[in-house]
Amino acid sequence: MSTRAGIGRGVLSVLGLALACVVTLLVRVRIHSDPPPPGKVLDPGAWGSDHVGASFPDYTTGGECLFCHRKEIAGQWTRNRHHLTIRPLDGEAAVIRAAAASLEGDAQLVLGGKKRVRFLRRSASYGKLDLQVRAWDPVKQALSGESQAAWDAQDFGMHCAGCHSTAVDAKTQAFSSLSIDCYSCHGDIDQQHSTDASHMLLSAKDQAPARVTVSICSQCHIRTGTSRSTGRPYANTFVPGDNLFRDLEVSFADRDLAGLGPVDRHILENVRDVVLSGDESVTCLTCHRVHEASADRHESLPKASAICTNCHASRNGKWVTRNLETHSAACRY
Ligand code: HEC
Ligand code: HEC
Ligand code: HEC
Ligand code: HEC
Ligand code: HEC
Ligand code: HEC
Repeated sequence: MSTRAGIGRGVLSVLGLALACVVTLLVRVRIHSDPPPPGKVLDPGAWGSDHVGASFPDYTTGGECLFCHRKEIAGQWTRNRHHLTIRPLDGEAAVIRAAAASLEGDAQLVLGGKKRVRFLRRSASYGKLDLQVRAWDPVKQALSGESQAAWDAQDFGMHCAGCHSTAVDAKTQAFSSLSIDCYSCHGDIDQQHSTDASHMLLSAKDQAPARVTVSICSQCHIRTGTSRSTGRPYANTFVPGDNLFRDLEVSFADRDLAGLGPVDRHILENVRDVVLSGDESVTCLTCHRVHEASADRHESLPKASAICTNCHASRNGKWVTRNLETHSAACRY
């Protein structure tokens, strides 16, 4: 009787151990982030299609989407950084408005926030903005950048528009909507989506592979790429669903990633795992909830994965968060 119970327990604990191993293995695989083994590197441009050189379709704008999605989306969308990346100067703090007033030429809009605030005004031609060469440094609480104020009519379109506005024409660099609209992430919506959301990119029922999702976020969050067709730092006519890497040239080499801050590096490591190693298990959405502006979900992931070490270290048995200071050549801060 007692022997049988003992054997029973033995079998159970062996089973338990085996299960624990499988779980650990699965969990490891789930957030595996080591560089791909040599010889097994995929060509990131090999799948899917693109819209390089095409013109953007007449897409459904945020106002139209919110007509139906007011309840769950509208409230937090007005506070979402994507929506607010470019916004009216009027809503800014008094010091920023005063700084803007000291620059001749009437700033109307601002871009950025915690790290740098840039001043913009509408150009004579539609879908274009002039960028002020002087900027506001929120840390020093002072104007920074060039010593003489001046408005540049080309800079924003050539170097910023693709990531801070919506649907930028590759030839004219004119945008269709100011700031970032629903279209940038959800794409050209399928009229049938209200009855079958599985066609809707980024919906809960979305069946698109990880490489499609990371392409969507990377069109803006890879800040070290170059368009093969235009030479600009953002892709030519990217439409969600496309393969970004057919046009965007990006280095995923260890030495290039090592030179970046932890935030840009964790993004490139995640994308590299998906598009070079073919590991489809982890995307930005494993950790981020875009509409809630939250990364809370990441805290319950296993601590053994390489991606964590960008931002955390284990010191004396304690899990600490590193300094996440960020600089960006593309964004000039
Ligand atoms: C490849 C896409 C891309 C390009 C090109 C780009 N940006 Fe950015 N920019 C981003 C992303 C993504 C962020 C948010 C990064 C973060 O929070 O980690 C950002 C953030 C910023 C911020 C900081 C916001 C803050 O938190 O204070 C400023 C200012 C900025 N960009 C200005 C510019 C300007 C000016 C240009 C053109 C000279 C430019 N960016 C070009 C993608 C881009
Ligand atoms: C920066 C990318 C991005 C933009 C811009 C964006 N979304 Fe989303 N959306 C997502 C992602 C990612 C999800 C999946 C859930 C999440 O992460 O919040 C999502 C989910 C949704 C959902 C599903 C419901 C939910 O809360 O999960 C709806 C509806 C939606 N978005 C509507 C919109 C509308 C309307 C706009 C424009 C006003 C918009 N989205 C702009 C990325 C974006
Ligand atoms: C005519 C009304 C209508 C318009 C316009 C509309 N939607 Fe929807 N949408 C719906 C309905 C109804 C559903 C299914 C019910 C639900 O899940 O909210 C849905 C579902 C979705 C989902 C999936 C929600 C989930 O549960 O994962 C997303 C994402 C979404 N819509 C985004 C958008 C975006 C982005 C736009 C604008 C480009 C848009 N919708 C325009 C009515 C609309
Ligand atoms: C069209 C360009 C664009 C796309 C597409 C985009 N982002 Fe962003 N994202 C930005 C910019 C620009 C900022 C910084 C805005 C600012 O602070 O001025 C930002 C900010 C963020 C932030 C920090 C602010 C916050 O709300 O927590 C996160 C996290 C983020 N993006 C994740 C994502 C993810 C995940 C996706 C893909 C579903 C995505 N983004 C798609 C341009 C983009
Ligand atoms: C393993 C989880 C994980 C994955 C995968 C991941 N992130 Fe993050 N990311 C985080 C955490 C955690 C932070 C810090 C959040 C904070 O500061 O609140 C962060 C920070 C960021 C920020 C800066 C936010 C800010 O407020 O300045 C951006 C932008 C961002 N991630 C975008 C992305 C994109 C795009 C992808 C996909 C290519 C991605 N992340 C993949 C966990 C992750
Ligand atoms: C892009 C940066 C980034 C990445 C990548 C990242 N974290 Fe975090 N993590 C943060 C930030 C920022 C906080 C909140 C800051 C704080 O409270 O110390 C945080 C908080 C946490 C917390 C709760 C607070 C604490 O200190 O105990 C846990 C647990 C955690 N992270 C685990 C992980 C795990 C596990 C991974 C890998 C799967 C990971 N993180 C990847 C930035 C990151």
